[in-house]
Amino acid sequence: MTPELQARILGRLKAAMAGPHSPAPRAAPEGAPETALDGDRFRQELSSFKRLPMVVGHASALSAPGDYVMEWVAGLPILVVRQVGGEVRGFLNICRHQGAMLVTDRCGRREALTCPRHSWRYALDGTLEAPRAGVLPNVGPEAHHLQPVNIAQRHGLLWAQLDGVADVASCLGPALDRDLSDLELATHRLFHTTVMSRRAHWRKVMDTVVAGHGAGRLLGSGGPGLGRPTTIVDDYGLHRRQACSDTRLASLDASAQVRSHTTLLYALYPNTLLMVHRDGLSHVSLVPMAVDHVTVVHRMLTPEGADHRNAERPSSFTRMDALLADHDGPPWTRSA
Ligand code: FES
Repeated sequence: MTPELQARILGRLKAAMAGPHSPAPRAAPEGAPETALDGDRFRQELSSFKRLPMVVGHASALSAPGDYVMEWVAGLPILVVRQVGGEVRGFLNICRHQGAMLVTDRCGRREALTCPRHSWRYALDGTLEAPRAGVLPNVGPEAHHLQPVNIAQRHGLLWAQLDGVADVASCLGPALDRDLSDLELATHRLFHTTVMSRRAHWRKVMDTVVAGHGAGRLLGSGGPGLGRPTTIVDDYGLHRRQACSDTRLASLDASAQVRSHTTLLYALYPNTLLMVHRDGLSHVSLVPMAVDHVTVVHRMLTPEGADHRNAERPSSFTRMDALLADHDGPPWTRSA
């Protein structure tokens, strides 16, 4: 995190500490909870995600040609693959023969993309290599290649958009775009990934994490007598920035490591959480799989040069996992 961003956050928090306490509002889900498990509404929501840039991973997961990440966007499986020339390309993870998924694991490395069902083989750039002849003879060769998906790389993150070109900067807006640049995400490296399945609407989990963060659940145990945490909330359109700090921050100057006493959360619409904490940065995707089923993917990123190969998972990541595994009660009720 750059000193400029630390100074901005420190200034906001100190001003809040000096003023009257006001509790952080919960993240407001769109629509009343009792209608959130409506199947039609869920399908409309997923369809609208096709027109948004969606974070599908961190670029450091693709260090060599053939490295790939797989993620679900708007109900469709997406593959992002590092090419021999160094660029990244995206495809639907769907074989053009009979629609099998080419890969089922979330990341890996392949020399080519070979379908497990009947062994159609695609090059890393999505072109069909084999069989070359004798299939669908009346259809042009492009119909056999993998279907491309627009991919953008910005702030070290990989963004996929199914309809249209991914304009990440416009989607974020200038203030948030500057914040993400100041997070120095591009110099972080993927350290560990946890995947969990929750029986809940994906926004229920998002709401729980934002509320838990605002209440100070990610600050850790700093010892007794630290008082009530201070939380600031800044909304940028549909996105949110939220910082939560213990009271020791009030005595720090602008050059202090703000992240030692503060957790900083970005809720990027629709389903991405970025959490800055003491040991690194959590990137969380809440992947809607069904109206009452979400896959939670927690990618732990550590600053370049940090060596955790033989270390336990840092405690701040463990706290984040615990919060992600929690949600306050059963999933929202299904509407009639
Ligand atoms: S479905 Fe992929 S080769 Fe047949």
